[in-house]
Amino acid sequence: MSANGESRSHRSGGGVLGQALPADEGFMVRALELASRGRYRVAPNPLVGALIVKDGEVLAEGFHRQVGAPHAEAAAFDALDGSAEGATLYVTLEPCSHHGRTPPCVERVLDARISRIVCAIRDPNPDVSGRGLDRLGEAGLDVVLGVGREPATELNLPFLISCLEQRPLVTLKWAMSLDGKIATRTGESQWISSPEGRAWALALREEHDAILVGSETAIVDDARLDRRLGLAPGPNVRVVLDRRLRLSPGQRLFEAEGDVLVFTESDDTPRRVALEQRGAEVIVVESVDPPVVLERLFQRGVNSVLVEGGGTVIDAFVRSGRFDRVAICCAPKLIGGREALTPVAGLGVGSLVAAPVLESLKAHSEGPDIVLEALRKDLLRGLLEVVDRREGAVASPVAAEQSGAE
Ligand SMILES: NC(=O)c1ccc[n+]([C@@H]2O[C@H](COP(=O)([O-])OP(=O)(O)OC[C@H]3O[C@@H](n4cnc5c(N)ncnc54)[C@H](OP(=O)(O)O)[C@@H]3O)[C@@H](O)[C@H]2O)c1
Repeated sequence: MSANGESRSHRSGGGVLGQALPADEGFMVRALELASRGRYRVAPNPLVGALIVKDGEVLAEGFHRQVGAPHAEAAAFDALDGSAEGATLYVTLEPCSHHGRTPPCVERVLDARISRIVCAIRDPNPDVSGRGLDRLGEAGLDVVLGVGREPATELNLPFLISCLEQRPLVTLKWAMSLDGKIATRTGESQWISSPEGRAWALALREEHDAILVGSETAIVDDARLDRRLGLAPGPNVRVVLDRRLRLSPGQRLFEAEGDVLVFTESDDTPRRVALEQRGAEVIVVESVDPPVVLERLFQRGVNSVLVEGGGTVIDAFVRSGRFDRVAICCAPKLIGGREALTPVAGLGVGSLVAAPVLESLKAHSEGPDIVLEALRKDLLRGLLEVVDRREGAVASPVAAEQSGAE
């Protein structure tokens, strides 16, 4: 769909090809469902789903299961029993046109004599963007672009943001009481949410490459901040913003597997060495601020960061505009108290017009808790505008090898 909700035809060689049909949207919903099955396992690749349909009947389905596994289109063709000649291929991301570790997916589409392709979004990678669809259009396929483009973009935020904006996706997450407190006035916060809410929060960790907290949370909560559900392969990166190197080598953070990065402004060598001996990588920067930290993390291949608090650090991300979405677990409790901590600390805005605005607010239940999720206003629109301007796509050192990566 375009920004105004209409599907778009793909332009190829100056000609406008293909219009969306009423049934396309439903099949694309299914392709998106299939794509989401690769969640936790495909990063840094995109989540992609594909469906082969003829005369309204689904002939085969496929999705990208994990890094190293076939692309979604290839998986669908592999699952096909018989011919796909004259069928429609629904795919959530433009098929690749270049040789990676597997032959280009457009070749499979052409070999199968597919006659129509319905695609949600272009691949942002400039090596691929538009070329796969151009190739198919030139070969005489009816090409439709834009069906399901907003959900397809939302599904692949880390991939698209890292590729187009050369930075990681940032999710701000907290658990709070119904009256908006993240801890009691004495600093107690374990546990505000229910076991179900905490299970949701642990699953969210598995979706992000890195978990980030402020020094106060790292010290007070003394949490390991690790992945522990086994949904994603391997450990995550844990990041602490600790300007003065207050973190102790005895912190439980060091008990779990995976890299621990400590960003600091301190030149206290004994403290730095003590943390390094526990396995931390201490990164000294001039100013421990979100833009600096995110740039360093992206350079290390981190495409998504979950900021787990506390309120002071979340405020730093909000004030610097460095966030893409919020994920809040809201528990039916009233903590109360002017002194009790709030999720976004600091001064806050003095005027409502200055308040950051979010959109796409969604809610779902986790046991007795309600989870609220929202995106920074215009995030999707901005990404889609860049994807639509093919020449605007910028190669990311990490993402460039992902599109079409196996
Ligand atoms: N309910 C929840 O979801 C939740 C989640 C997390 C935490 N909590 C609770 O929140 C409390 C801690 O929150 P908090 O707001 O006091 O502290 P915090 O945000 O965890 O940490 C703040 C500290 O981080 C350091 N820091 C480094 N770089 C910074 C930057 N650019 N901007 C801001 N701070 C930076 C500063 O200390 P230095 O100058 O020493 O580096 C600062 O004092 C605890 O009680 C914890 O239990 C609740």
